[in-house]
Amino acid sequence: MKLKTAIFCSGRGSNMEALIRAARDEKFPAEIALVISNKEDAPALEIARGYGVLAVAVGTKPYGRYREAHERAIDEILVERGIEIICLAGYMRLLTPYLVRRWENKMLNIHPSLLPAFPGLDTHSRALEAGSKLHGCTVHLVTEEMDDGPILAQAAVPVLPGDTAEILAARVLAQEHVIYPAALAGYISGVAVWAGAGEVLRNPLP
Ligand code: GAR
Repeated sequence: MKLKTAIFCSGRGSNMEALIRAARDEKFPAEIALVISNKEDAPALEIARGYGVLAVAVGTKPYGRYREAHERAIDEILVERGIEIICLAGYMRLLTPYLVRRWENKMLNIHPSLLPAFPGLDTHSRALEAGSKLHGCTVHLVTEEMDDGPILAQAAVPVLPGDTAEILAARVLAQEHVIYPAALAGYISGVAVWAGAGEVLRNPLP
């Protein structure tokens, strides 16, 4: 049985598309059952629909500064659709402890740096400014601290002479599309284990 998966995104949706494509393989342990965006005009929504995936925008405007109310509206849809695991893929809105706790150990994120280096935004220009020789991307479990959960997978790329932030971003993005499906599959199937607080923990999913 494939695990019912929701993807959250805010924009372009290239990681979402990589996950949808990987999940079309019958051996892949996840089914992408739902795409959620906080932006009505996110290109990701149309891309998802093109693959026949239900894609819903839950705009933030009606909720004003009540971030948790926005997340409760999203959570209702997740429950209604029988979602079992969430992948954040370019979801550019900080989550409150409400949703993070609700989906503890069941929410993954991809971040465009080799965490713990460069959490937050503008990771590629910051890596260039710091003179990094290696840069990359990380798939991790989401915890209440931003870009800080247990790491499930990382891919490194070289930083080359003449790189701009755009060139470097494209090199990293190609790796994101490889490691996100691999990390999701590994996590679900229990192959992926991670080290936490001095011990090796096993996957808590069923
Ligand atoms: C990706 O590079 C992803 O790693 C990054 O946003 C981009 C989304 O692109 N995520 C973050 O910066 C989260 N902190 P995509 O919509 O084409 O997948």
